[in-house]
Amino acid sequence: MTQVEYEYADFTAYASTYEQRPDYAPRAIEAALRVTGVRPGDPACDVGSGSAHLAIPLLEHGLRVDAVEPTAAMREIGQRRTAGYPTVSWSEGVGERTGRPDHAYELVTFGSSFDRTDQPAALRETARLLRPGGHFLCCWNHRDFDDPLQAAIQDLIASKVPGFRYGLRRDDPTRVIVDSGLFTEPVHIASTVVHELDSAAWCAAWSSHMTLGDQAGEQFEEVLDGISALVRERAGDRIRVPYTTRMWVAKLREDAGDAR
Ligand SMILES: C[S@@+](CC[C@H](N)C(=O)[O-])C[C@H]1O[C@@H](n2cnc3c(N)ncnc32)[C@H](O)[C@@H]1O
Repeated sequence: MTQVEYEYADFTAYASTYEQRPDYAPRAIEAALRVTGVRPGDPACDVGSGSAHLAIPLLEHGLRVDAVEPTAAMREIGQRRTAGYPTVSWSEGVGERTGRPDHAYELVTFGSSFDRTDQPAALRETARLLRPGGHFLCCWNHRDFDDPLQAAIQDLIASKVPGFRYGLRRDDPTRVIVDSGLFTEPVHIASTVVHELDSAAWCAAWSSHMTLGDQAGEQFEEVLDGISALVRERAGDRIRVPYTTRMWVAKLREDAGDAR
């Protein structure tokens, strides 16, 4: 019997190229973990763990990680990529219903997955999972649209997919976190890294872009071809892409007990 009772964003079609997405900025992760005060050996739950872009740095910092992921194809990739770490375990679940035990974690993280949840429900579930004084963390990698090539790509997307919206993945989650009544005002951390990447691999990773894929529909292949052509013309074999990792870290309120 599956424990997934909530609907979830099924990433199966996007799984094979998702692992080629850029990593989160190491300085942002370090700063966020300093805010939380976690120490090596502490237990963390990484929700919507997917291909483990966030789980791996958490493991590298010495945390024990319970990785929760609803999409089987993503879970398989994450399991393969973390196979060498003795302190990780994987299970099926969603942010709203993880299936993990009460008050078991110092840290609950959502790497590019909080936007895929019913956020108030996911925050209630996070509060249930956390030990007193524990922390919630959510983060995303945002391409910098000030970069001329990235701006041209945005123009291309807007011309092919009129009204295209990034939705919650580019929204500041502060309000929903504070309004839950469960967490303190989050600390916001941002760090930009310019990734120099193989152009073909970077273009291939666009096929894992669910937010674009969903809205582009039948136009998706055409948009991807257009992006590849632009990159070939402007960047050649190697592309420099600035990404800003944005993280929000919030502490469980001492008086959260009644609300969770
Ligand atoms: C954009 S990927 C991020 C994967 C990884 N955490 C990272 O940082 O790269 C989003 C992941 O959220 C998962 N997901 C979809 N709906 C979810 C939900 N309701 N709760 C938790 N995860 C969900 C997807 O299956 C997918 O693996």
